[in-house]
Amino acid sequence: MANQWIKKEVQLLCHYLNNELNEEICSQLFPNRTYEAVRTKRRQLRKQLGGWGEQHSDNKIALLKKVLKMYSPNHIIEAFGGNGTLSNIYISNSKSLNICERNLDCFQALKEKFKNHKNVTISNNRADKFLYEIYLNRNRTKYNWIDLDPFGSCMNLLPTAVDILTNGYIYFTLSDLHQLRFSKINSIYWRMLIPDTIINNDIYKQLSVLLGSLIFDLSKRFIWNGNMYLKNPKLISPVKIQDLGNRNTRLFRVLLKVETAQNVKSVEEHIWNKLQLFTYNNYPVFNLQNSLCQIDQD
Ligand SMILES: C[S@@+](CC[C@H](N)C(=O)[O-])C[C@H]1O[C@@H](n2cnc3c(N)ncnc32)[C@H](O)[C@@H]1O
Repeated sequence: MANQWIKKEVQLLCHYLNNELNEEICSQLFPNRTYEAVRTKRRQLRKQLGGWGEQHSDNKIALLKKVLKMYSPNHIIEAFGGNGTLSNIYISNSKSLNICERNLDCFQALKEKFKNHKNVTISNNRADKFLYEIYLNRNRTKYNWIDLDPFGSCMNLLPTAVDILTNGYIYFTLSDLHQLRFSKINSIYWRMLIPDTIINNDIYKQLSVLLGSLIFDLSKRFIWNGNMYLKNPKLISPVKIQDLGNRNTRLFRVLLKVETAQNVKSVEEHIWNKLQLFTYNNYPVFNLQNSLCQIDQD
């Protein structure tokens, strides 16, 4: 019979898990146990700790319900339909829902699931094409909520989402920090052109830097065209950040507000004051502690 894991061993393994040591390293740290035994225990613990999986999905649902109580959107776009878990909630809280799903099996399952809902449209398309087609359509002005919940990053879709909305919200999953869990921390900074000098291991500091750079780039683009201020600038501000992690999944849901203004006289005044950004080593950083944007943890 296999040896029972003693409390001290379990505590140690939890500690290794929280420090993101991989299976191989973990098994070397338990020389009296086989690789398979350590792997099985590690998986079991990960489930219990809720590192990912159902717990994460439950959090996402709970946080969506919470956010919909505060902001009641009418016409919704959901660019990554999946198996329709979030769609179900959206349907009962809005007038219409336009869903996109690239995977054919998921698309067909969604069709079947919502066949009796007249106010639901479902497309089998790629999210970027789907959003761009909506942007080209005059009808787009009715939308006031865009949900982006991909497996990976959706940074590339944010400009089109802002283009679609006149006044509304973008509710997206920020997974870029999650992607770093098992790799080098500076890869994301490299991709986002953030200098190494402001890298920090603290998850909330990473979030401040990432959001700062995101909001800064996005806002500038919709206020200033490089030469002059735009006639009808779009103002983009983060209003809510929700931490989906129960351990350190590093996944967040972010709610951005998009509004069309008459004119903006100074990018600096808008970006540095209103958006609560500050500079660190000449880089925009979002002020997580002192901003008006609320941070939720379920
Ligand atoms: C995280 S899941 C979405 C889960 C969904 N919110 C739910 O409640 O079930 C991401 C989904 O996006 C789909 N997907 C991936 N890449 C896509 C793309 N480029 N365009 C549209 N859908 C895509 C995947 O097939 C997957 O079903």
